[in-house]
Amino acid sequence: MIPTLLLLLFIGLLPPAVSASAGVAVSTCRSFCGNITVDYPFGLRPGCGHAGFRDLLFCINGVLMLHLPSGSYRVLDVDYAYRGLTLHDPAMSDCYALARSPGGRGNGFVVEPWRAPYLQPDPDNVFLLLGCRAESPLFQGFPGKHLPCRNVSGMGCEEYYRCPAWAEFPGGGGATSRRDSAAYGAASPPECCAVEFGAIRAINLSHLGCEGYSSAYSLAPVRALGPGAWAYGIRATYSLPAEHQGFCGACRATGGVCGYDETTNGNLCLCGDRNSTSNCDSVGSTGASVDGSLSLSILVGGILIAMMTWIPAF
Ligand SMILES: *[C@@H]1O[C@H](CO)[C@@H](O)[C@H](O)[C@H]1NC(C)=O
Ligand SMILES: *[C@@H]1O[C@H](CO)[C@@H](O)[C@H](O)[C@H]1NC(C)=O
Ligand SMILES: *[C@@H]1O[C@H](CO)[C@@H](O)[C@H](O)[C@H]1NC(C)=O
Ligand SMILES: *[C@@H]1O[C@H](CO)[C@@H](O)[C@H](O)[C@H]1NC(C)=O
Repeated sequence: MIPTLLLLLFIGLLPPAVSASAGVAVSTCRSFCGNITVDYPFGLRPGCGHAGFRDLLFCINGVLMLHLPSGSYRVLDVDYAYRGLTLHDPAMSDCYALARSPGGRGNGFVVEPWRAPYLQPDPDNVFLLLGCRAESPLFQGFPGKHLPCRNVSGMGCEEYYRCPAWAEFPGGGGATSRRDSAAYGAASPPECCAVEFGAIRAINLSHLGCEGYSSAYSLAPVRALGPGAWAYGIRATYSLPAEHQGFCGACRATGGVCGYDETTNGNLCLCGDRNSTSNCDSVGSTGASVDGSLSLSILVGGILIAMMTWIPAF
C-alpha cells in the first residue's frame, strides 16, 4: 500500500519534461536560418549534429554562413537528399566579372585536415584558377609532362574564355598565346587552369600563386549551353562514416536526437533529460549533469530503493 503511494507521489513530482522524454522535441537541434533548414548532421548549436560538422555553420542576421580556414562562404542551399551544399564566395570571379589581384582574390577552398573526410567539393565542381604565376606549384613538374589543367564535367577554360568577363580583361585578346600553353615549366603559363579539387586537395590561392579563381558546377547537362549557363559557386558534398548510421538510427528509433559530446566529440544521443552514448532506451547514460531537476535515473533508482526497503515488510 505505502510503496504504491510513494510511487504515485514520485510520479506526481515528475516535471513535465521527464514525462515527455519518450520523444525529445526534434526542434532540440533542428533550426532555420533564413529559409534554409539546418538539421542533422549539421547544427547551429554546439552539441547538435555530427562532430565532423562542428564549428562550421553560423546564422548571421538570417544568413547562413560556412566557415573554413580559407574563409567564409554564404550557404545558398543544403540538399539533404543528395548530401550537397551550395556555397557562394562573393569575392570570386564569374562569367561577368573577373576578380583578380596579385595577392589572390577570393577564398579558394581549404578544409581542415580532420574535417576533410566529412566535407569536400563535389567531383563535378570545376575550379578555374586565374593568373597563376609561372613559379606556381601547378606548373612545376617533369619536362614534357602535361599540366594538371583539364576539363571537369564538360567545363573548362576554353569555354570560360568565351565569357563576357574576358572581353574586358586588359590584353584579353593578346593573352591568347598564354591561353594555349600546355607544357610544364612554360615561360608563360595559361591565364586559366581548370582543376578538379581532388587533383590538388586544397585551393589555396596564395600557395598556388594565383590572382583569383572561379568555380562552377553542373546542373543537368550544361555542356551544350556554354559558360553563361553554368552555375557559379561551389558545390560541396558531405559524408558520414558508415558505422555512424547505426548509432543515429538507433538513437532516433528510441526518441532521441543525434548529437555529439562537446568535450570528446564522440557520438551522443540527446534524450531530453539525459544523454546516452548509445540510445535513449539504454541504461548506460552519460547524463552526469543534472539541469535543475532530478534526472530520470536518479528518480527510478530512488523508487526502486524505496520499494525494496518495503519488501521485508510483506
Ligand atoms: C530562399 O529564398 C530565396 C529568395 O529569397 C530563394 O531564391 C531560394 O531558392 C530559397 N531557398 C530555399 C532553400 O528555399
Ligand atoms: C546533453 O548534451 C548536450 C550536447 O552536448 C548538452 O548541451 C546538454 O547539456 C547535455 N544534457 C545533459 C542532461 O547532460
Ligand atoms: C595557404 O598557403 C599559405 C602559403 O603557403 C599559408 O601560409 C596559409 O596558411 C595557407 N592557408 C590555408 C587556409 O591553409
Ligand atoms: C575541353 O573541352 C573543349 C571543348 O569543350 C576542348 O576544345 C578542349 O580541348 C578541352 N580541353 C582539355 C584540356 O581537355
